[in-house]
Amino acid sequence: MSKYIIHQSGPLRGEVEISGSKNAVLPILAATLLVDELCEIYYVPRLLDVEVMCDILRSVGKIVETDWEAHTIRVIPGERTGSEVPHELVKRMRASIFVMGPLLVKTGYANISLPGGCSIGNRPIDLHNKGLRTLGAKIMSDGGRVEASAIYGLKGALVYLDFPSVGATENIMMAATLARGVTTIENAAEEPEIVDLANFLNKMGAKIKGAGTDTIKIEGVERLHGAKHTVIPDRIETGTFMVAAAITRGDLLIKNCVPDHVRPVIAKLIECGAIVNDEVDGLRVRGDINNLVATDIKTLPYPGFPTDMQAVFMALLTTVDGTSGVIETVFENRFMHASELSRMGANIRVEGRKAVVPGNKHKLVGASVIATDLRAGAALVLAGLVAKGTTELHEAQHIERGYENFPEKLNALGAKIERFED
Ligand code: UD1
Repeated sequence: MSKYIIHQSGPLRGEVEISGSKNAVLPILAATLLVDELCEIYYVPRLLDVEVMCDILRSVGKIVETDWEAHTIRVIPGERTGSEVPHELVKRMRASIFVMGPLLVKTGYANISLPGGCSIGNRPIDLHNKGLRTLGAKIMSDGGRVEASAIYGLKGALVYLDFPSVGATENIMMAATLARGVTTIENAAEEPEIVDLANFLNKMGAKIKGAGTDTIKIEGVERLHGAKHTVIPDRIETGTFMVAAAITRGDLLIKNCVPDHVRPVIAKLIECGAIVNDEVDGLRVRGDINNLVATDIKTLPYPGFPTDMQAVFMALLTTVDGTSGVIETVFENRFMHASELSRMGANIRVEGRKAVVPGNKHKLVGASVIATDLRAGAALVLAGLVAKGTTELHEAQHIERGYENFPEKLNALGAKIERFED
């Protein structure tokens, strides 16, 4: 457990480098289970979730070498590929479910404990199961475990997703690479992380077309081979630093990012009055020129406004002139940060999936708050930077699941954050 003490800081200024994408690297690591050859992954962020995924790969027989200084992971085939993932690992990270599709199609069997819900909602895996069943898998979930088998392999089919789930799209896409025949995923998720995974799979010899659109076609192949791949930059970390520039009324150059991946965040920051420029070496965000004003946001699957940016953006909205509305459509319970922000004086009113956020530049005051999840934690850190006095953020280890060196990166820009083991 860790705790951050966040002191009110002045406007953040300077340059920050964005790390590799957490949500891209996790399924990419899971995809290495599809081959018996060496894979090398570059630009890997050092995050708790990535370390858990490495342990999962080890638990089923892979040799995983990490070189954190070079941000590189080598996944080497071991003597066997197991099919069972220990519960201690799955319970630490929901994304462990990504190994179900690859293990199933590679070994004919996968036995994984159910990831269960988390603070942002129930998070069922029915769409993963339905998709894999459509490809011919037998799936039983019982006693907190999900057991999937396909003794005679999987067979390509048409899979329609009732909701464009990121994880289900990825799991089904990975499984379909080694299925017999063609799989079509309709109403697929279109997130950039899906495109990155498809690019990695295609480098391994898969035949995937349409990733990044709502229809993905996967022609199954006999076998895949090892590959090398550089992970895309993290668009949520990018958006978080964009908001950090705005909330502190600062001026940041955000390097190593893909502006196209953060278009909705750019649009909303501009609506608030921030200046965002796409410069040669990065995105420059200035919150120090105009008076910032209220706007409304509604989270949606990509290319809509990302749910993972909702908490962080809400922190900004508590500091602008006027009242904003926030609607969360992706997760059913993703407003835990609203009550924590309200402990800092934000006075946010939540009604079901809607939040009404009154704003004022001098509103927030330091308080003792809890990071209920990863993005909520980031939001509270940013709020703490502009709150009067000192903010004590407990359970800050959630932040380290998904942001590489977050306090260090912010401190290099002028923030005053201290980190303690709680
Ligand atoms: C991924 C991201 C997460 C992000 C989310 C939505 C990773 C590791 N995590 O999570 O950061 O917030 O996308 O952009 O990439 N659902 C079902 N049944 C299913 C699967 C999902 O009902 O079988 C529901 C979920 O409960 C949720 C919604 O669909 O309400 C979106 O979930 P999904 O897109 O699957 O998110 P994840 O892949 O878990």
